[in-house]
This record gives sequence, structure tokens and C-alpha cells, in this order.
Amino acid sequence: MSHHHAHAHQVGLDEKAAEKLEWSDAMLLGHGPIDDAHEEFVCVVKALSKCDAVTALGCLQAVEDHLLAHFGTEREWMERTEYPNMDCHLDEHQKVLDSVQQVNALAKIGQVGLRDVRRLAVALADWFPKHATYLDSALSAWISKRRYGGAPVILRRDLGNGVQQESAFT
Ligand SMILES: [Fe+2]
Ligand SMILES: [Fe+2]
Repeated sequence: MSHHHAHAHQVGLDEKAAEKLEWSDAMLLGHGPIDDAHEEFVCVVKALSKCDAVTALGCLQAVEDHLLAHFGTEREWMERTEYPNMDCHLDEHQKVLDSVQQVNALAKIGQVGLRDVRRLAVALADWFPKHATYLDSALSAWISKRRYGGAPVILRRDLGNGVQQESAFT
């Protein structure tokens, strides 16, 4: 059996990314405000991926509002802790925000269809795990180091049997 994805517009985009995106304790980075934002990201992007003609505009606005708050929180923590190399991280946020705001603006005047909206959800779901793993985890570790003088201790209820403590940044 073979599967052909004739409509893969972007090379490397995981078509199943939105279906795979599920919040779990394995995604915790150890800094509460960032972890809360990430849990909400998963929630609003999942909702966007399942939107219909009636809910699409509301879901798009929810994603845009979420990203403004989420990226704003991370920026505040970068400034507060004098995070080095903010530019690369903030550039990535800006690109993502730009594409969401563009689709949202076009959707409001009926210039994009459901297919494009769902495609945006797939792109966001595909982008997020990499961004969180490489950039947000480094930021989270930096904040913990600044505040507590050590790497974060993360409680991951999902992993292994019972409660286990592990530090993700040793
Ligand atoms: Fe983030
Ligand atoms: Fe980030």
C-alpha cells in the first residue's frame, strides 16, 4: 500500500502534525509561565485544525490572541533575565505571528478557505515541537539558572512508573 500526498506544498511539512500534536507532561520545560503558554498553544492549534466554516474565524482569532500573549511572555522573560541572543528567537516568533495575522486578515474578508486555515494549523503544529525543543527549552533553562542558580527540576507524571524527578538539562 502506498500513500501519495499530492498536495504537499511545503517540503518537509509533516501532514499529520496537527493530529500528532497532543499536550503531555513530556513537553514541560520547567518554567511555569512558558509551560502554561505551551499547553494553551496546543489547545488553540488543535481547535484550529478541527475548525469548520462556522468556527474558523473565532479559532483564527484565538490563535492570534494566544500567540501575542505567548510570545509577549517569552519576550518579557528574556528582557527580565537579560537573555543573550534574543534576536534569533524573536525573529522566529515574528515570522509565525506574521503568517497567522496574514491568514486571519484575509479570512475576515473571505479571501481564504477552510483548506488554507487548516493548512495553517498543520504548519503551526509542525513548527512548534522544534521551536520548543531548541529555543524555548534553552530560554527556560536560562531563566531557571538566573533565578535559582541551577537547571530546572521537572516533574513528569507521564513518564515511567509513578512520579519521577528528572532534570532535562544535565
Ligand atoms: Fe514558546
Ligand atoms: Fe519561543
